[in-house]
This record gives sequence, C-alpha cells and structure tokens, in this order.
Amino acid sequence: MRVTIFGATGLLGNALMREWRGDEVTGLGSRDADIRSYDQVAAAIQEHRPEWVVLAAAYTDVDGCETNRDLAFDVNCHGAVNVAKAATQAGARLMFLSTDYVFNGESCRPYEIDEALAPQTVYGKSKAEAEIEIRRILPKACVLRTSWVFGVGGKSFPDTILDLAGTRQEIEVVNDQRGSPTYTVDLARAIVSLCRQEATGTVHASNRGDCTWYELATELVGASQLSARVHPTSSDKFVRPAKRPAYSVLSLTSLQKHGISMPTWQDALHRYLDERRIPK
Ligand SMILES: NC(=O)c1ccc[n+]([C@@H]2O[C@H](COP(=O)([O-])OP(=O)(O)OC[C@H]3O[C@@H](n4cnc5c(N)ncnc54)[C@H](OP(=O)(O)O)[C@@H]3O)[C@@H](O)[C@H]2O)c1
Repeated sequence: MRVTIFGATGLLGNALMREWRGDEVTGLGSRDADIRSYDQVAAAIQEHRPEWVVLAAAYTDVDGCETNRDLAFDVNCHGAVNVAKAATQAGARLMFLSTDYVFNGESCRPYEIDEALAPQTVYGKSKAEAEIEIRRILPKACVLRTSWVFGVGGKSFPDTILDLAGTRQEIEVVNDQRGSPTYTVDLARAIVSLCRQEATGTVHASNRGDCTWYELATELVGASQLSARVHPTSSDKFVRPAKRPAYSVLSLTSLQKHGISMPTWQDALHRYLDERRIPK
C-alpha cells in the first residue's frame, strides 16, 4: 500500500513515520507541500500516487487560532478541502485527523461519533467546518477525532510538566478539565490498522480512561520520581484566549467496532517516559 502523510513533521506525524512499517510511506511537512495551495497538494499526490492520504497537518495552536482566525481557516479548513479534492481526483482514500474541540465541552458522558458539533473556539470551528466539507467532497473519507495528544518528537503537556517539575518545588495544574490523553504511538498504530481495514466514516481514538490535567501531571511526576509537589487549581487561574472544554472524553465504541483496543492512559504514560529516556 502507498501512503502519503501531510503533517509528517509534527507530533503525531513523527510517530506515524516511526510506527508505519511494511507499506510505502511518504511523509511531507509544510516545506514539501503547503496545504493552503491546491497546486502543491495535487502535485505531491500526483508524484507519490498514494492509495491512502493521511491528513495530520493543521494549525494546532488553539490560542493562536483565536487571534489568527484567517490562518486557522486557511490551513485547517481550506487546506483540508484542498487535500480532499486532490485525493478524490487521484482516487485515493483519506484519513482526516480531527479533534475533541468540535464538541461543546459541556457533556458529562463520553461523546459519541454522531453527537452534535458545537465548537466553542476558532480552532474547533475550523476543524468542524473541515469535517463537514470533507464528508461532502469525499463521503468515504475517515474522520478520526482524537484528544490530548502527547508523545516524543514535539511539544506536548507532559514535556511542559516535566520541565516545570524539574525546576520548581511546587506546581499548580488545573483540575476542572477532564479528557482522555492519547499517546502518539498508540494513535499511530490505530491509524495504520484503520487504513488497512479501509475504514470510512467517523471514528474516535484516544487512550482508555480519563483524567484531569492535574491527575495526569500527578501520575507523571510520581512516575518520574521528581520531588515537586503538584497542586490542583481551577481554570479561572489560567485564563487563556481559547476557552478550554471542561469535559471532552471521546467514546471509544467506534474504535472497538474496528477491533482496536487502546491501552490505558496510565500504561501509555509510562511507555512515553521510557521512550523519552532512550538517547536519540
Ligand atoms: N495535539 C493535540 O493535542 C491534538 C488533539 C486533537 C487533535 N489533533 C489533531 O491531530 C493532528 C496532528 O496534530 P499534531 O499535534 O501532531 O500537530 P503539530 O505537532 O502541531 O504538527 C502540525 C503539522 O502540520 C504541518 N503544517 C502546519 N501548517 C501547514 C501547512 N500550511 N501546510 C502543510 N503542513 C502544515 C506542520 O508542518 P511543519 O512542521 O513542516 O511546518 C506539522 O507537520 C492535527 O490535525 C490536529 O488538529 C491534535
């Protein structure tokens, strides 16, 4: 199988490039093809002739999106449309990475795949609109929503916490936002499996279980044997441009229907720490 990955230089893309074996995989960053340009996307797809296109490229700075609305929509929505059109033209399948931010974040039970889209941020709106456009252009596309992604090969929440815990004795972390962390390695393996199964429609993927950022930080600092003390705090102490969802747990029923069982987030976190310790 030939696969082309847009966003191969990012956090998830790095793991996809490491984990995807046994197929002919081409990874592209923004310097290889800017997804805002249909011509660049179409040229890349024509050159590599993939059976599958994985679209992991996005403008993911959720606070930056609030102040750069045009850029957010240019990359996350119009860029995605370019990729969907070029994939259709080439007869390729498409896997589009989306996010928990397409929901309102106010639920108290895991979001199912068919729940109403109600994004509260520019980032979420740009991704929700992309989902709708992609389904219109390429009804057989697979829209894969994920949440709280972490891993090596890019900046993510655990890096920030480990840096802070290495230099401070006390750290405060919000305890009123609940979600499911997702290790890039496990997500990459799920993506490979879904592509091999020729998955279509909407699928949710994260590690199993849920926690608050405070609970995640506590597990992380404990497992790293750092002496810093982690204290719970509330979101109003860390006001940011983009509103964070209070609850964004994704139901994994859709993933289980594809026979994919994700490890727990605690198991994933420990493997991430092991991976981080391996000298590069
Ligand atoms: N991180 C999370 O917590 C999270 C949660 C839910 C969903 N997601 C989704 O998962 C996917 C992967 O996220 P990630 O965290 O791996 O992202 P990331 O680390 O921020 O990487 C973004 C990738 O997009 C590429 N990119 C940005 N603008 C581009 C453009 N105009 N043209 C072509 N490529 C462009 C970047 O390329 P260069 O580096 O070469 O510029 C990079 O490879 C995204 O679709 C994101 O929306 C992420």
